[in-house]
Amino acid sequence: MSHVYVTHRLPGERIAELGQHCDMACWPGPGLLPADALRAAVSEADGLVCLLTDRIDAGLLASAPRLRFISSLSVGLDHVDLAAATARGIAVGHTPGVLVDATADTAFALLLAAARRIAEADAFVRAGDWRPENAWSPDFFLGRDLAGATLGLVGLGAIARAVARRAAAFGMRVVGWNRSPRDVPGVEQLPLDDVLAESDFVSVHVALAPETRGLLDGERLARLRRGAVLINTARGGIVDEVALAEALASGRLGAAGLDVYEREPLAAGSPLLSAPNTVLTPHIGSATALTRRRMADLAAANALAALRGERMPHCANPEVYG
Ligand code: GLV
Repeated sequence: MSHVYVTHRLPGERIAELGQHCDMACWPGPGLLPADALRAAVSEADGLVCLLTDRIDAGLLASAPRLRFISSLSVGLDHVDLAAATARGIAVGHTPGVLVDATADTAFALLLAAARRIAEADAFVRAGDWRPENAWSPDFFLGRDLAGATLGLVGLGAIARAVARRAAAFGMRVVGWNRSPRDVPGVEQLPLDDVLAESDFVSVHVALAPETRGLLDGERLARLRRGAVLINTARGGIVDEVALAEALASGRLGAAGLDVYEREPLAAGSPLLSAPNTVLTPHIGSATALTRRRMADLAAANALAALRGERMPHCANPEVYG
């Protein structure tokens, strides 16, 4: 019987069903599976169901001689060396589609929170600063309007398009850029530099890959409008965090809403922690109970198909099927 290792307890029934078709072991926790335990687990596994926190590099794959498939509970696969997996004939599955609305909601929540200073206002009330001498006035806690503003989308995949639908409902003009031009109704396509220069709000929606690492570096961030707001729910490595923190501190950028970081958890010394007008959330883009159950179901479906010798419903390297 095939041996499948699952690196975290997962919700839903399909993962239990997977256990009826293989000899399945699961990291019991507490916490995340440590790297040395992952190495020990894959050395004997035929299949792996993993999270985006499990780093699956070429060295790890070299110590997994029996591994035939990897099924990740994530849409992003920057934690997996896809080329090394493909070279070894290992099919890699992921979970696109089911997390689109939840992640677009998070992007929009950050956009609204950054635009209307929600986190800052909450802290203000809790700190007891809301006193008669410091209360409602015509210029009290002024934020930014969404209606009539321009939202620039960096990447036009499914999550970006879901953000565009939300923006349209708020009366925003939407412009966007995609590496391969893509016709999206309601989104005016522009070169990346023009998207940055024309937008009041910019939301990042590209996958992290060698071509997109550092895409929004200091030079590109400098093209943003004075006072613009940057939202990132994609991956931290796409935006230069030091340059972003500097642009916020200098007041050149107006605000930011970030859910993802170059290194997660965010280091205690990160300049983003002291950047002004910045809303930070801990990588919760797809974190709703229903979405996580759907992701687990899809990860289990990918693994089940691989166990049966069939194509995974969502395989990121279909070239392994020849
Ligand atoms: C979340 O970041 C994912 O890739 O699913």
